[in-house]
Amino acid sequence: MINFTLRQIRIFECVARHLSYSRAAESLYLTQPAVSMQVRQLEDSLGLALFEQLGKKIYLTPAGEELLNYCRNILQQVSNAEAMVEDLKGMGGKLSIDVASTAGYFTPQLLAEFCKRHPKARISLNVTNRETLLQRLANNEMDMAIMGRPPEGLDLDAEPFMENRLVIIAPVNHPLAGERKIPMSRLAEETFLVREQGSGTRIAMERYFADNSIRLITGTEMNTNEAIKQAVQAGMGLGILSLHTVQLEFALNRLTVLDVENFPILRNWYVIHRRGKRLSVIAQAFKEFLLDNANAVLANTSN
Ligand code: PGA
Repeated sequence: MINFTLRQIRIFECVARHLSYSRAAESLYLTQPAVSMQVRQLEDSLGLALFEQLGKKIYLTPAGEELLNYCRNILQQVSNAEAMVEDLKGMGGKLSIDVASTAGYFTPQLLAEFCKRHPKARISLNVTNRETLLQRLANNEMDMAIMGRPPEGLDLDAEPFMENRLVIIAPVNHPLAGERKIPMSRLAEETFLVREQGSGTRIAMERYFADNSIRLITGTEMNTNEAIKQAVQAGMGLGILSLHTVQLEFALNRLTVLDVENFPILRNWYVIHRRGKRLSVIAQAFKEFLLDNANAVLANTSN
């Protein structure tokens, strides 16, 4: 009979995810020899090699690929069992949420209100970009996520809960500032600073220009909304960002929104988790809170 432990499954899954013993060791807070030894013991008890080393890199063998699917299912079941235990303990459970970088601008206000209503909730918030977030969802590394529309074809449950308006931002002294109903075609003469590949904001912006047959001249690429705002203020180009990210700069009159036809780009924020995931009581409560209260809470806090 095959004899392996949950610990070995966790370690194997982590090495397979990172394809690196050292990175797996780091994320599991173990030493690299401890990780290699657990994988070797697992291989010994199966009588099969799970990884092969070519040059400096390691790869999953076909047997490793097959086993990985089973291991992910086992870990999903274990996490469901943990959620059930948290259920039994009620609202004091732990909630781990990932949000796309732009959603990091409003999620803390929502969490503040949620925690007022559920003071025992223990929350862990991870702000990351859309692409990383999708990867982490695929690996079942959190309870739920907040992001723009997820790609079709992933096995996800996604519900929209709030509007996300993407606006064109410019320095207050820009020649187009203050003009009304600027034709969209005029944008083909401007340079736009863009977020990194994999950002939801960037994908939406590129798609919008393509759908409206406007040539998009892209300037410097930057991986945070903050850097784009600073660069726009400094005159490096225009930017297209979510209205959530620029409240402070508008209040301080450091940036302005251009009044361009067909703008803002209207998107939605979605609350997302893997389909079939058994949400804990606290996770389910947070999801309902977003669907029922997010708009009202943020309307109050931004006044
Ligand atoms: P971003 O994602 O902050 O990575 O651009 C926002 C989104 O998912 O719409």
